[in-house]
Amino acid sequence: MGKIILTGDRPTGKLHLGHFVGSLRRRVELQNSGEFDKIFIMIADAQALTDNADNPEKVRQNIIEVALDYLSCGLDPAKSTIFIQSQVPELCELAFYYMNLVTVSRLERNPTVKTEIQMRGFSSSETEGDPTQRGKGIPVGFYTYPISQASDITAFEATTVPAGEDQAPMVEQTREIVHRFNSIYGPTLVEPDILLPDNKACMRLPGTDGKAKMSKSLGNCIYLSDTPEEVRRKVMTMYTDPGHIRVEDPGKVEGNCVFTYLDAFCRDKHFAAYLPDYANLDALKEHYRRGGLGDVKVKRFLISILEEVLGPIRQRRKEAEQDIEGVYAILENGSKAARDTAAQTLEKVRRAMKINYFEDRELIAEQSARYKGLK
Ligand code: TRP
Repeated sequence: MGKIILTGDRPTGKLHLGHFVGSLRRRVELQNSGEFDKIFIMIADAQALTDNADNPEKVRQNIIEVALDYLSCGLDPAKSTIFIQSQVPELCELAFYYMNLVTVSRLERNPTVKTEIQMRGFSSSETEGDPTQRGKGIPVGFYTYPISQASDITAFEATTVPAGEDQAPMVEQTREIVHRFNSIYGPTLVEPDILLPDNKACMRLPGTDGKAKMSKSLGNCIYLSDTPEEVRRKVMTMYTDPGHIRVEDPGKVEGNCVFTYLDAFCRDKHFAAYLPDYANLDALKEHYRRGGLGDVKVKRFLISILEEVLGPIRQRRKEAEQDIEGVYAILENGSKAARDTAAQTLEKVRRAMKINYFEDRELIAEQSARYKGLK
């Protein structure tokens, strides 16, 4: 059996450097490695609605932003099927069956969902302050999105889900559903593995303010579509080591954003090109720790590297922006192809569940004979 990738993003905003190092960069490498038989990249608009019920227009407007970001990073529709989740209704049908294979208490234990609930609050005016009503303000769809995500993954018989560590509980939930389904109905579904980023700094790139994660609501993101001036300004005001005041002071690199970003982006060749006084990142860190190396110098170095990465992305985005109809055509074709694949899996699932009644000549013949015998 071949190797198949399924992964995706919620279209709630433009994609940023956190997405890039956490998943996009890897996806493009995997796409170009030729190691995979099929690659499906999904714009998860339906999942985005699970926590944006009051703002559907935001989701609708951001589909094109995410698609443009994908194309500008080098995802190639000739090699990867890029599609929109809501255009594959088979996914809903699968989720409806999977819902019977998961308990409420299992959903309650999902750490990513728990964190998201805390972040969003989800308390409604009727339920606020009443402990017996805790959790009652959470939309049912949001609560059950890990089940819908299991449909996304299994509908394409994905073996591999490249994603950040926050998605690990979703893949684990998927594996449990696959086991449960296969043990009840016989071997049908494919069990996926998550493929995590290989570099620790890439697991969760901090925001430019040093906070744990880049997030639109915190305003600490560098977007793939930022201009060179925006990138420069954001790096220049980036959080470093608050104890490193004068150039001579010894500095800390742990928790220092500029160095975390360098961990994620910097290669030895960048030193040769922009900072030949140092052989590699270890040498630069060593000087910073010892004292005598100013933040501005390190920040300028980071800006050069980011420009090397973002320049071509920006260029490709500009080109794609000139042909929005063409981008929608890519999404439409991708969605059709994705739907074909999902429909084939659904066929298998229906057969395994024996709910393909009208094809089941045996069932009809047997019942018919039984009733004729009664006459
Ligand atoms: N949960 C992912 C996110 O928040 C999006 C997503 C939906 C996804 N379905 C998926 C990712 C299936 C990987 C596999 O960005």
